[in-house]
This record gives sequence, C-alpha cells and structure tokens, in this order.
Amino acid sequence: MRKIPVTIPYFTDEEEQEVAKVLASGWVAQGPTVAKFERAIAEHEGVAEGVATTSATTSLHLAMIANGLGAGMDAIAPAFTFVATENAIVMTGATPVMVDIHQETFNIDTRKIAEKIEEQYESRDGKLVNKDTGNILWGIVPVHEFGLCCDINEVNAIAKEYGLKVVEDAACALGAMVGGVHEGGFGNCSCVSFHPRKSITTGEGGMILTDDPALAKRMRELRTHGSTVSADARDKGHGFLLPEYNEAGYNYRMTDIQAAVGMAQVRKFEDILACKRRRAALYNELIAAKLPEFITPVEPEGYYHTYQSYVCMLNIKELGIASTAEGGAYRNNMLQTLEDIGIATRQGTHAVHMLGYYRNRFGYKPEDLPNAYACDHLSITLPLYMQMTDDDQEYVVDTIRKVIDGRI
Ligand SMILES: Cc1ncc(COP(=O)(O)O)c(C=O)c1O
Repeated sequence: MRKIPVTIPYFTDEEEQEVAKVLASGWVAQGPTVAKFERAIAEHEGVAEGVATTSATTSLHLAMIANGLGAGMDAIAPAFTFVATENAIVMTGATPVMVDIHQETFNIDTRKIAEKIEEQYESRDGKLVNKDTGNILWGIVPVHEFGLCCDINEVNAIAKEYGLKVVEDAACALGAMVGGVHEGGFGNCSCVSFHPRKSITTGEGGMILTDDPALAKRMRELRTHGSTVSADARDKGHGFLLPEYNEAGYNYRMTDIQAAVGMAQVRKFEDILACKRRRAALYNELIAAKLPEFITPVEPEGYYHTYQSYVCMLNIKELGIASTAEGGAYRNNMLQTLEDIGIATRQGTHAVHMLGYYRNRFGYKPEDLPNAYACDHLSITLPLYMQMTDDDQEYVVDTIRKVIDGRI
C-alpha cells in the first residue's frame, strides 16, 4: 500500500554531525549551542533577541508572565487554535476570553476583538474591567494559524487604543511575513515552535522573539528557576557559588543537543519554505482543476504564507450538505477512508471552546463561536513536506476525487 504521511521532518547527515559535536564537548544541557541557535533564529527573523525554551507552550507561558499576565486578569484569544494557546493563559492563573475567526484565513477576526472589548468591559481607574467577573483585561494573544500571519497591524492598533499587551502565538509561523516584516518583528513578544509538525524542528522546542533586551534578560532568568546567572556564564567563572534568585522561576531550558539539531535545520529553512510554497501552489492548481468540493487556503496581498500546514475547507454547499454537523461527519468518514488506504490527513485544528475543560468551565455552546465551530468540523490538512513529489500530490488529490465519487 502506498503510504503518504501528513508530514515528516527533513533530516540529513548535518543534524547527526552537529549533535556529535555537542556530545563530544560534554556540554549537553543548555549552553553555548542554545545561545548560537537563539542568535541564528533571531537573525533570520530580523529581531534583536531569541529566548529558547522547551516548547511554544512554555514560551507562551514565560512571555505572558514576563508581560505581567496573572490571576484576576483576562486575555483575549481566538477560539480556533491549538489548545496550548488557551492553556498557557490558564497556566498563568488568568482567564482566556475567546473570540471568533475568519473562515478564509483561519485567523482572529479583529472586529470581534473590538466588539468583545466594547460589550464586555468598562473603564475604571484607567483599566478595562470585565463587567461580569471584575477581571482586568490584560491583552490579546493573536495566533498566526498554519503559517499565515493574522492581521497583526490591526491587533496592534486595537491594543494601542485600549492600552493592552500583545503576546503573539507564532507556533506555526516561523518565517511568515506581513509587508516584508518577519513575524517576531511586529513589536511584541512572539512565540515559535520547533515541534516536528513545524517547518523546522528540534524534536520539541520553542523560542520567544523580542526586540526588548531587558525583557529577554528577565525571561532568560525565569526560564532557569529565576537565576540571575546562566549555567554557561557560571561555568566561565566563580562557578562554585550559586547565584541570586530574585523570582520563583521555572526550568524551561532547551538543551544543547536539541539546539544542535536546530543549527542544522536553520541552514535548510529557506529551502524548506521555498519547497512548501511551491507544493502549496501545486495543490492549489490540482484542487482548482479536480476538487470543487475543497476551498483552498488564501494568501492575502502583502502576506507571506509559510504553509506550516496546507489546510482546506470542505465546501458543503457544493456537496449538497445542509449543516456543519453533517459536514463534519462527512469529513470524518472521508479522512478515515483516506487513512485506511495509507494517506494521512488531519482536521486543521480544534475549536477550543468546544473542548471539555473550556466547555465545562465557561458553558460555551458550539454556536457561540460559529466560524471556529465550522473550521473545527470542515477543515482538512493535506500531506505536505520536503520529501514529497509532484506525483505524491497528484495521487492525494486523485484519491480524494475517487473517495468523494464513491469509487473507493
Ligand atoms: C497555534 C499553536 N500554539 C501553540 C502550539 C504548541 O506548540 P508546542 O508543541 O511547541 O508547545 C501549537 C502546536 O501545534 C500550535 O499550533
């Protein structure tokens, strides 16, 4: 049976060679290779500082804490995102307040942010206070979903107008741009992921990008238990005494072994991006010609999509399906059939307001955030990776055609 995975990392001998160097050095925890990897990523994104952590989730948590988010506060986030976005807010003790997205871009609808602020909050002593809970509105956590930036300029404008913080969930969006500016360069802390589903990987890993050196210093301290001196710096002198700890911090350190993999990956990054963009264009063509039941992803004018995932929507009107729920059942059957014959696909991501913890805690109903609900049910991620061939892509599209026609 021909097997097509949804993605595979692109490794060559280079990763092994970089890891071998680190192992030979004997320094395998966080040290000089992480520092090198931070500089390489920050340079690529045109940002002053990179602060590596164990994942995008821990990057988000650290960036939120360092930007003052905590108990008694609200943070606005999109409902259609991986659960880690909202979980990171909950980890700080704050409350996520979800708003809807655009179905076309899968990204936060900025009009809904403004509406939510106007409806739900009132100004007291220069702060925006939630009329129901008394929580103070801290800020916004926009997500650059699937490698396409959200309308970050509008998010920043809203934040400025209302005096809010912004921490960007850029887990999927390393390399993405708006108006020629790389994500990370929009004036906020921005958190990327190096999970194997992302364009480049360190196994697990994440990084906060920021142009604020003081904030970067504080986040480096917080990621290492609140220590005022890194292990690397301690090793270089006066290593016998433990340093001062002014804050209760975390152990969110990426290792030098992971960063070694990252150093080899970052050298391949531009080739991987170019390949994924070419493959996305080929899918667009094949789908336009053969699958009117699929709505292909958009790249609005001035945006640079990195296609971390190539995510389509099922056009239920074209299929004669009346409701989102029925469309979801149809989608699930289709993806099961594809899996049975060796083609791995995925639901794009989930509507977080429909997940047990959030549903039970906040009493959300699916229709409260209808676009997130629709994307949860109707989105389809197609296989996309460096090693794929044109023939693989044609096989995927032709096989979906057969499944829809009932020939498989
Ligand atoms: C939008 C979004 N945020 C956060 C995360 C979490 O990233 P990590 O697995 O690196 O913690 C992911 C991972 O898929 C994601 O897609």
